[in-house]
Amino acid sequence: MLIPVDLGPRSYSIVVERGALGTVGARLRALGVGSRAALFTDAAIGRLYGKAVVESLTSAGFTVTTVELPEGEAAKTVAVASDGWDACVAARLDRSSTIVALGGGAVGDLAGFVSATYMRGTNFVQCPTTVLAQVDASSGGKTAIDHPKGKNLIGAFHQPRLVIVDTATVDSLPAREYRSGLAEVVKHGIVLEAAYFDDIERSTDGLGTRDHATVDRIIAGSCRLKASVVERDERESDLRMVLNYGHTIGHAIEAAAGYGEMTHGEAVSLGIAAEAAVAVRRGIASAATRARQEHLLARLGLPVRSTAIDARAVLEAMTHDKKGRDGRVPFVLAPEIGRFTIVTDIGPDDVRAALTEIAAGR
Ligand SMILES: NC(=O)c1ccc[n+]([C@@H]2O[C@H](COP(=O)([O-])OP(=O)(O)OC[C@H]3O[C@@H](n4cnc5c(N)ncnc54)[C@H](O)[C@@H]3O)[C@@H](O)[C@H]2O)c1
Ligand SMILES: [Zn+2]
Repeated sequence: MLIPVDLGPRSYSIVVERGALGTVGARLRALGVGSRAALFTDAAIGRLYGKAVVESLTSAGFTVTTVELPEGEAAKTVAVASDGWDACVAARLDRSSTIVALGGGAVGDLAGFVSATYMRGTNFVQCPTTVLAQVDASSGGKTAIDHPKGKNLIGAFHQPRLVIVDTATVDSLPAREYRSGLAEVVKHGIVLEAAYFDDIERSTDGLGTRDHATVDRIIAGSCRLKASVVERDERESDLRMVLNYGHTIGHAIEAAAGYGEMTHGEAVSLGIAAEAAVAVRRGIASAATRARQEHLLARLGLPVRSTAIDARAVLEAMTHDKKGRDGRVPFVLAPEIGRFTIVTDIGPDDVRAALTEIAAGR
């Protein structure tokens, strides 16, 4: 499936297909870019899928240098970016060259940042290999590295020329990593499209067994929804805030637990549960709308209750939310499945009450 992302001169396509990694060379060639490329990946992903990408690129006439990054968040440092710039210089990459990211969101963020900054910007291709990266991080053009004071504090907007989602890579994901990515998939359904949410509800068995047709259809649907948001709000001024659903409280839950304690997707799942509770408490959504969200997340093996939540620490973390404007954190809430509304007067009492409910265990 080919999903167009219409951004005028920065338009590109998202290719969602089993085996798509083998087509990256030909597709990149068709864009008329220069013949040098650097493949950024980590050792584990490189072992699994690096060869397919390198072969595809070389048989399409590209000269390829492989740059190996540390695994996970450890890739998103200025030291690793600096090694990446060094590798680009050594391989004599120029502005017509291409940096290809093969991996999860961390590889994509680092490679995208190097691509945005090396010679003020090279061509960039995303080959995301986690569900989270496929449905969220790889499209939209946000690239970043971390600062000791916070995640993603240093970065640039830099759109890819092409996104290659090879859904076969989902097969090798550890179960916890796979489930975590599904939290973003559910998020897209809740705030963007009721029919898609219904489809996920009907597909929980197939998603559980990673049935190929089911995984392909659901991932393509989520990529399509993300693309539609990016098209309407490229620089994240307003509409794109909708993608923060479950994240306003979810990020704070993740930070308060200590990074690495729970996965991002698990924290988002709890964040969705808490924000759905806020919506009910404020009379914005019905109890039934809240229950549907929780049931779906739970069916997919994601947490919606946790005794590990410390409400005070979560509230403290929320006051540091960098997306807050004038001290108020805008909330994206779902009045019903498939719709969203932005509310700016949610106070600490609302959040505390919601957290108490989901921390209760059940
Ligand atoms: N730029 C954006 O818009 C955006 C959006 C959301 C998240 N992010 C960023 O994404 C990062 C998280 O990404 P992530 O969840 O993909 O995790 P990750 O990139 O940290 O990867 C997690 C682990 O999975 C392994 N892995 C990746 N693909 C695999 C596969 N197919 N089979 C087996 N193992 C595989 C990796 O080697 C790594 O160890 C964070 O840094 C976050 O800030 C960016
Ligand atoms: Zn997220």
